[in-house]
Amino acid sequence: MSERISRREMLSRVAGLATGAGLALVQEKAEAEWLGEFPRVAVSVKTSPPGPKSIAMLERMRKVIGRTNYSGLYGITLEGGQGAYVTDLDGNIYLDCLSAATTNVLGYGHDEVALAYYQTATQLQNSCFPYSANIQAIELAEKLTRITPGRHAKKVLIGLSGSDSCDGAIEAMRKYTGRYAVIKFANAYHGSTGLSQQASGFRGLNDGIYPPSPNFITVDFPVTLKQRDEVLRRIKTLLTSGEIGGVLAEPIQGDAGVQVPPEGFFPLLAEMLSKHQALFIIDEIQSGMGRTGRWWAIEHDGVVPDILVTAKGLSGGYAPISALIGRAEVIDALHPAQHLFTYTGHPPSAAAAAKVISIIEDHDVMANADKLGCRLLGRLQALQLQYPDVLVEARGRGLMIGLEINISRDPAACKLFAMRCVEKGVYVGYFGNAQQVVRIEPPLILTEEQTELVADVCAEVAKEMHSGRIPASTREKVRNFAIGL
Ligand SMILES: Cc1ncc(COP(=O)(O)O)c(C=O)c1O
Repeated sequence: MSERISRREMLSRVAGLATGAGLALVQEKAEAEWLGEFPRVAVSVKTSPPGPKSIAMLERMRKVIGRTNYSGLYGITLEGGQGAYVTDLDGNIYLDCLSAATTNVLGYGHDEVALAYYQTATQLQNSCFPYSANIQAIELAEKLTRITPGRHAKKVLIGLSGSDSCDGAIEAMRKYTGRYAVIKFANAYHGSTGLSQQASGFRGLNDGIYPPSPNFITVDFPVTLKQRDEVLRRIKTLLTSGEIGGVLAEPIQGDAGVQVPPEGFFPLLAEMLSKHQALFIIDEIQSGMGRTGRWWAIEHDGVVPDILVTAKGLSGGYAPISALIGRAEVIDALHPAQHLFTYTGHPPSAAAAAKVISIIEDHDVMANADKLGCRLLGRLQALQLQYPDVLVEARGRGLMIGLEINISRDPAACKLFAMRCVEKGVYVGYFGNAQQVVRIEPPLILTEEQTELVADVCAEVAKEMHSGRIPASTREKVRNFAIGL
């Protein structure tokens, strides 16, 4: 955060709260002492977002950045962060409920991680792992083999982003099984590189880039028991062809709008795959690193995947790094140089990731995500019962929560809801195959007070929407600035 909040400023905000001023809720320092001495800050939206500086930056950006790089949500340019708060160029302070698309699992200003990166960078900024190993990458791989499900022999391939590690997982699957075909799920998102993009079922992502391929077979992602049985029947039939190398799945679909599979789906699927010597690849890029209250969301299903892919929160947002962790014999089916990069195992990034893993382990971060996630989901589900005309469903696990908005009367309703939350200082996102789901994925260091604030703001907005009191200015902003995935 460019302006660190002084004690004096903080006290004046406390006074503001005491007199009932606006929505500015003063946050107590994070309950967990391990977070260190973060300044106490409060949400404060004094310039209606996107403010003039953000808008000017948007214009500047559009001149030089290709449009495919930017699927912005609100036209806001972020500038800094501290604890669970982010600031924008116009000086607004939001409670972050997006975590830069789940990368910033420990929030902002985490000196320990930044220092691990910095110290390594000053010592050895790169070794080009394909030519010369480095200790940081090896230590990270050792940690990853320890914290992923299963006690069998595992190996790790380190990459640069979730997309390329999904590519690597499919490459390993193909080499190991000798089969090219992958079963993927409708509305899945696995990335923006060759194989990961083809494995994604998200709207027009592949249009005009990849011709339809018989090697990527789409099945529906089930959310009910009836759908579960139908999908499993379909997969069983597909497997009998003997051409399927494996299934690539998100344990909870993220960008599709937090779609949670029904009980038993993954255990039954894994059993079926193993019978046909096909592999189970799980994409934990969004759901992993403690977000659902366990290291990996698939742990809730008690299933051990053949390959697990992680990225995003792996480095807490401090470095672009990803990894796939799999059965040793599957990973080593790839010959030397079939999956590597100049920046593979980049020492500072690996050191940052290793530090994030230690912090999550040492300070009960997953327990916090579990506890506060349950509390938040409970409040949102109660809200849904109160406003069924506005809210379709609140769902998720831990701090991976989606609030589905009724868009049947107004296709922009979800964007309006989200924009209104942002105007009130809670920086949520929105996604889903019809952009119908408010995305609530805060840093895992959230406090109880912050959790209540998220629920309180959602309640205010639901009430406004229910009574037709969303301001015309918010609608105008949605028209001008909302894009989204
Ligand atoms: C589930 C999932 N898989 C893969 C990716 C792609 O990761 P990256 O953007 O780091 O390449 C994402 C990113 O949104 C994701 O959510």
